[in-house]
Amino acid sequence: MFESKSGVLLIGGLIFFVFAFLSNAVVPMLMYQELPEQPTAALVNENLMYQFQDLSLRYPDQFSEHFGEATQENCVEALDLGREIYIGEGCWHCHSQFVRPVSNEADRWGPVAATPEYQNELQRPVMFGTRRVGPDLSREGGRRGNDWHAVHFYEPTSVSWKSPMPNYPWLFDGSPDKPNKRGLALITYVQWLGSWLDSYPLYEDYVPLEEQMDNPLAQ
Ligand code: HEC
Repeated sequence: MFESKSGVLLIGGLIFFVFAFLSNAVVPMLMYQELPEQPTAALVNENLMYQFQDLSLRYPDQFSEHFGEATQENCVEALDLGREIYIGEGCWHCHSQFVRPVSNEADRWGPVAATPEYQNELQRPVMFGTRRVGPDLSREGGRRGNDWHAVHFYEPTSVSWKSPMPNYPWLFDGSPDKPNKRGLALITYVQWLGSWLDSYPLYEDYVPLEEQMDNPLAQ
């Protein structure tokens, strides 16, 4: 057996398989077995609260009706609901949440995905995704404003010509400026993605919405 070509290939194949299993499964398991799984409440951070408050200022009627105040507790509720909608609507059929260490993906999407990022309740089951019809979303937070997301969920083609992404009118009370509870929750979830990284793009020259409203030139 050891002298035939197929025997050498078989044994070589088995050795490679065992090696891959050790390096890709056993080693990471041993490295991270002590890492606690974070509950959603531990995932709310400054960047996300900023976006959640922005939602409350941008859509005051819908926000107060569905969430009340922009508190940390309500943000947790929005995140959990947002995750459910992301799963239920099948967003993961078209979007991955994993920046791979190949093909210069980091240039396009930001830091390569790291294991600890997935050690939390919102990643159960993990949202790696299997296909990329649309872009990876794991660093989507802060990339777009809340109003962009609202309009895009209502009708993707209105901001992205020929987008194959479906319309989600049931996330709204009627028009794109009236996201309902599910719509607000999904936007919160999308803004959470990557909010734990220093690279979260909160625009340096950003003018808070209240100030924009006070400024007659901005209207
Ligand atoms: C049929 C495949 C498909 C499905 C299902 C889908 N998307 Fe998309 N999505 C796309 C494509 C393609 C794009 C890029 C064109 C565009 O901007 O619409 C995109 C773009 C996006 C963007 C903008 C990314 C950026 O910054 O340019 C976000 C955010 C997004 N999708 C979120 C979602 C969410 C949340 C869901 C589930 C409610 C969803 N998508 C469902 C295909 C899909």
